[in-house]
Order: sequence, then structure tokens, then C-alpha cells
Amino acid sequence: MAILVTGGAGYIGSHTVVQLQNAGYEVVVLDNLVNSSEKSLQRVEKITGKKVPFYKADILDREALEVIFSKESVDAVIHFAGLKAVGESVAKPWEYYNNNIAGTLVLTDVMRRHGVKNIIFSSSATVYGDPAFVPITEECPKGQCTNPYGWTKSMLEQILSDMQKADPEWNVVLLRYFNPIGAHKSGTIGENPNGIPNNLMPYITQVAVGKLKELGVFGNDYDTHDGTGVRDYIHVVDLADGHVKALRKIEEKAGLCVYNLGTGTGYSVLDIVKNFEEANGVAIPYVIKDRRPGDIAVCYADASKAKKELSWEAQYGIRDMCEDSWRWQSGNPNGYED
Ligand code: NAD
Ligand code: UD1
Repeated sequence: MAILVTGGAGYIGSHTVVQLQNAGYEVVVLDNLVNSSEKSLQRVEKITGKKVPFYKADILDREALEVIFSKESVDAVIHFAGLKAVGESVAKPWEYYNNNIAGTLVLTDVMRRHGVKNIIFSSSATVYGDPAFVPITEECPKGQCTNPYGWTKSMLEQILSDMQKADPEWNVVLLRYFNPIGAHKSGTIGENPNGIPNNLMPYITQVAVGKLKELGVFGNDYDTHDGTGVRDYIHVVDLADGHVKALRKIEEKAGLCVYNLGTGTGYSVLDIVKNFEEANGVAIPYVIKDRRPGDIAVCYADASKAKKELSWEAQYGIRDMCEDSWRWQSGNPNGYED
């Protein structure tokens, strides 16, 4: 029996394929490569020493999915495939709702037709909006998202939950990721954003490697210890392991479950800059800029539910995250084009 990983050539997906194969799972990957390269999977194969069966296919393409589900004996789906650029989602809402929501509807319809009713879904801390309290537990009410990307996550959580309530044969695990950074220790797979990065760590690593001049720090007047925004950064390998633990939960019968995947510790933008400089001996010049619209001051998880119910807990600290991000970027200045 295989685990189908949609979006498995992407950043989090490729790291999850490594952890799944290392844990002994048979894996099949589906990706349309809209935001990734097949080279990531070749590198995964080098890391694990195992083949990664790959289908270049779109989750909107029902016929392609029918072929995959007919050929492969899929037991569960880990569903990463989706568009994730916040700014782009504001400019292209239809494309985001179509890709992420319609795509997931097609995928889950084909799944149920083939009797596959186990899914782990990539959600985000963005569903909490400006959180009612921190640290954020899963009981924290969902909030107003500031962009269509965030709404696709919030709406898909609702859709998958409603499907599970109507048909309890489904096992639905919603994983709310905090801020994934870092890369595999080998330095051969990592985050590979198109164009100028929107997220903090890839921006820092591109400054470090000399592709960008300086970091713009979006606001230093938040109500935080140094005025810059605080987030819960989590090593992508820890995040990947969270999916292996979620699969085990499904094997025991999960029903509908929601978990935060974070470390429980918040770091400010300037904390990250300092940790990166200290860990890697590279200077990160920065300038203070205006706040970025839609940003919140503070966001970090209470991850105790995942610890209790999944026996999952983040293992890596901020130094590993900074070192591993840099090992990937410095060894692959142009991502998978190197
Ligand atoms: P990514 O862009 O690297 O990976 C997503 C993958 O999905 C890409 O390989 C892309 O080619 C593929 N894809 C997109 N649309 C597709 C479609 N219609 N059919 C088939 N494949 C398609 O992003 P990531 O950072 O690895 O994120 C994985 C998932 O986790 C996404 O759903 C994302 O929204 C979610 N997430 C990411 C973060 C983050 O900070 N990276 C935070 C919270 C949630
Ligand atoms: C962003 C998205 C969120 C998404 C998440 C992961 C927004 C408003 N939110 O979250 O929906 O789930 O990425 O993809 O875009 N920062 C700088 N300079 C930079 C980049 C970032 O100062 O060049 C700051 C931000 O203001 C923030 C922190 O760094 O305080 C982290 O930013 P980022 O990595 O973009 O993540 P989030 O804003 O948490």
C-alpha cells in the first residue's frame, strides 16, 4: 500500500517524502511542477537510496487522477499541492480558489470513488487570522484571513471537516503549520522560491549569498520585545516528521483531527537575523521599512496537543534551522538550476 503525496516535489513535500521513505512507507508523488522541479525528487532518491515513483499531473485533472488511483494501490493521501504566494493570491483570487479548492474537490472525489478516505491536509496558522491569544492552541477561534490564499486554507478545512462529519469512514487530519524554514542536513534539497522571496528566511539566505543587497525589516513598532514581528519558526524536517506521526494516527483511526505543528517558541525578525549571523558567520545588512499590509505582530503555537496525541515534538532548534537553510542556499545559489 502506498502513500500518495500531492505536491511532493515542493519544499515541504520533498522533505516529507524523505522522512516517509526512511520510515519504511511506499510513496508515490504527484505534482504538476508549477512551483517545483523534478530534480528535487532525484535528490530525494539519492538521500534515501529508494526510487520515487512520480506522476506529472494536475489535481484538477480528473482523468489523470483516475489513472493514478487505478494503477497504484493508494492507502492515504498527504495533500500538499496548492498555490501559496500570498501577494499573488490577492492579484489572482480566481486562480487560487480554482487551483486550491476546486483541485482538492476533484482529488477527494476521485479518492472516495476509489475507496481511499484517508487524507492529511496542509493547513496553516494563517487560519487563526490575528490570533485571539498566544500561544495559539487548536481551540483558538479561526479568524479573518487577510488574503485569498489564507481563505483557501480556512475553507478547505471546513470542506474536509464537513465531508468527514457526513461520512465517518473518512480520516481527516488537518495540520496547521507555523513557519517552516531550514532544509535537509544533506544540503541537497531545500526551499526554492521563484523570483524575489516573500518569506523571511529565503530572503535572508539570498542576501547572504549576495543575490539581494539587504533585508527589509517590515516594521519595528510592533508590541514585541524589539518591535519586530514574532513568529514560530519550525525546521522543515520536524514538520515532515509530523506527517509521519499523523499517518500513524490515521492507521489507528483518526476521525477528524486538527493539530498545530510549531515549536512553541517565538522569534522576532531581528532574533532570526542575529541567530543566522552567529550560526553562519555571515553578515545580513538590513533596513527598517514600513509594516507589510496584512502582517500580524505575534504568532506562535501551543503544540502540546500534537505532543500528547501524536507523540510528536520539534527536535531542532533555531541554530539548526539557520545552519541548514544556509547549507542549502550556499551550496545551491540558484536552487535546482545549479
Ligand atoms: P511548494 O510550492 O514548494 O509546494 C507545493 C507543490 O504543489 C509544488 O511542487 C507545486 O508544483 C504543486 N502544485 C501546485 N498546484 C498544483 C496542482 N494543481 N496540481 C499538482 N501539483 C500542484 O510549497 P510548500 O512550501 O512545500 O507548501 C506545501 C503546502 O503547505 C502548500 O499547500 C502550502 O500552502 C502549505 N503551507 C506552506 C507553508 C509554508 O510556509 N511553506 C505554511 C503553511 C502551509
Ligand atoms: C506568511 C504569510 C502566511 C503564510 C506564511 C507561510 C503574509 C501576510 N502571511 O506568513 O499567510 O502562511 O507566510 O508561507 O504574507 N519579514 C520581513 N522582511 C521580509 C520578509 C518577512 O521583515 O522580507 C517579516 C514579516 O513581517 C514577519 C516575519 O518576517 O514578521 C515572517 O514573515 P514571513 O516569512 O513572510 O511569514 P509570515 O508573515 O508569518
